[in-house]
Amino acid sequence: MALDIVIMAAGKGTRMKSALPKVLQRLAGRPLVQHVLDACADLQARRTVVITGFGAADVERAVAAPGVLCVRQEPQLGTGHAVQQAVPHLDDAGTTLVLNGDVPLIEPATARALAAACDGQRLALLTLELDDPSGYGRIVRDGAVVRGIVEHKDASPAQRAIREVYTGMMAAPTAALKRWLARLKNDNAQREYYLTDIVAMAVADGVPVVASAAQDETEVLGVNSPAQLADLERRLQRRRAEALLAAGVRLADPARIDIRGELVCGQDVEIDINCVFEGRVVIGDGARIGAHCVIRDSRIGAGARVQPFCDFQQAVIGEQAQVGPFARLRPGAELGPEVHIGNFVEVKNSTLARGAKANHLAYLGDSTVGERVNYGAGSITANYDGAAKHRTVLGNDVHVGSNCVLVAPVTVGDGATIGAGSVISKPAPAGQLTVARARQATVANWARPAKAKKP
Ligand code: UD1
Ligand code: MG
Repeated sequence: MALDIVIMAAGKGTRMKSALPKVLQRLAGRPLVQHVLDACADLQARRTVVITGFGAADVERAVAAPGVLCVRQEPQLGTGHAVQQAVPHLDDAGTTLVLNGDVPLIEPATARALAAACDGQRLALLTLELDDPSGYGRIVRDGAVVRGIVEHKDASPAQRAIREVYTGMMAAPTAALKRWLARLKNDNAQREYYLTDIVAMAVADGVPVVASAAQDETEVLGVNSPAQLADLERRLQRRRAEALLAAGVRLADPARIDIRGELVCGQDVEIDINCVFEGRVVIGDGARIGAHCVIRDSRIGAGARVQPFCDFQQAVIGEQAQVGPFARLRPGAELGPEVHIGNFVEVKNSTLARGAKANHLAYLGDSTVGERVNYGAGSITANYDGAAKHRTVLGNDVHVGSNCVLVAPVTVGDGATIGAGSVISKPAPAGQLTVARARQATVANWARPAKAKKP
C-alpha cells in the first residue's frame, strides 16, 4: 500500500519570539523538522510533502532531499487548509500520514503503527490521555466509538473535561481524505479550516475511526515556546544518556551531558559532567573524558585521557594519549599514540607521531612532528605569512626549547635541539644544537639612572 507523508511546517511560531521559522529551531543541534523527517526515514514513503509558509525559502533549503517535496501554503488558514495544499501530490490508492513539523520526538515505531492502523481503510488518530488536556483538541466518543474531535476553543465545559486528546497526527485513506478536505468549512472560533473536522465526516461516511495511543507524552509534545524547546531538549538528552548507561558507559551524571549528533563509545568509557558532543564522535575502550569538554566530529583512541575543559573539532587522538586540561585541537589535529598535549596548547592541521609532547602554552599549525619530540613551553609555529600557510617539519627526537618561533616553511632534522628563545627560519641540522637569538652580554660599568635628589 502506497504511503505518502505530509508534514505541516508552515506556522510562524509566534511564541518563540524568533526571526527563525519555528520548525528550524534546533533540538539536539538539528532543526525540529529534521527530527520528524528522520523519524519517517525508514517508513518507505512514496513521497514526503512538507507544507511551508512562514520562512518558506529557509525551510525548503533545510529539508531539501530526494523524495521530499515542498508545497507552499500562503496564507495559513489552518491545518485542514495546510493538508489541502498537498492534495495534488498524494496517491489516491494509498494512505496519507499527517505529521507536525514542530513535534520532533515522534518515534518511528509510533508513526509506522499509525500508518498500519489506517491501512488505507480506516481513519487512524494518534491520541493520548493527559492530566492537563487544555489547549488540545478533545476526542469525543459515543460509548467506545469515536465521533469527532472538538478544538479546545470550540469545546463545551463538558467536552473540556475530556482528557483524551488528539496529538495532531493522523493517518487517513487518501481518496477519502481528499473528499473530506474539499468539504471543510471555517465556521469555528478561530475562522480556520480544521483538519480535525474530517473525523466527523468519516463517521458520517461510515469509515471506521480508530484511536491509536502514543507510547508516551514526550513523543507527542510540540514546541511552541523556548521553555518547551528547552524541556524537550532535556528529555531527549536524558533518553540518550540512559541509552549510553545501558550500553555500559559510565556517565558521572546522566542529567549533565549533551549529545548533538552521534556518540559511539567502546567498553569502559568514562565521561565526567557537562560534556558536549557534536557531529560524530567515537571514543575507544577505556578512554576517559574530563568535565566540561566540547568535542565535535572527533575520534578518541582506547585508553586516552582527556582532562577537563578541552575543545576538539575534527581531531584524532591516539591510544593512551593525554590531552588537556584547556587544550584546543582544531581540524586536522592528529595525535598519535601516547602523545601528550597540555594546558593552553593549540594544534591545527598537524600530525604528531607516537610519544610527542607539547605540554604548555604552545601552537602547532600545519606541522609534521616526529616521534618523541619535546616541544617547549611557549613555542609556536609561525605558519602564516599573511598570504599563504606553510609547513613545519620536525624529525624524530627533536627538542624545541621554550619560547621558540619556527618560521615556516622550515625543517628541523632528527635529534636536533633548538635553544630556548630561538627564531628558526632556516633548516636546523639533525643531531646538533641550533640557537638563533642574541647572545647574552653583560655591560661593564653600567649604572642605572638615578632620580635627582629633592633639595
Ligand atoms: C492542532 C489540532 C489539535 C491538536 C493539536 C496538537 C487542528 C485544528 N487542531 O491544534 O486538535 O490537539 O494540534 O498539538 O488541527 N500549520 C500549518 N498551516 C496552518 C496552520 C498550522 O502548516 O495554516 C502547522 C503548524 O505549523 C504546526 C501544525 O500545523 O506545525 C499544528 O498547527 P497549530 O496551529 O499548532 O495547531 P493547534 O492549534 O495546536
Ligand atoms: Mg500547536
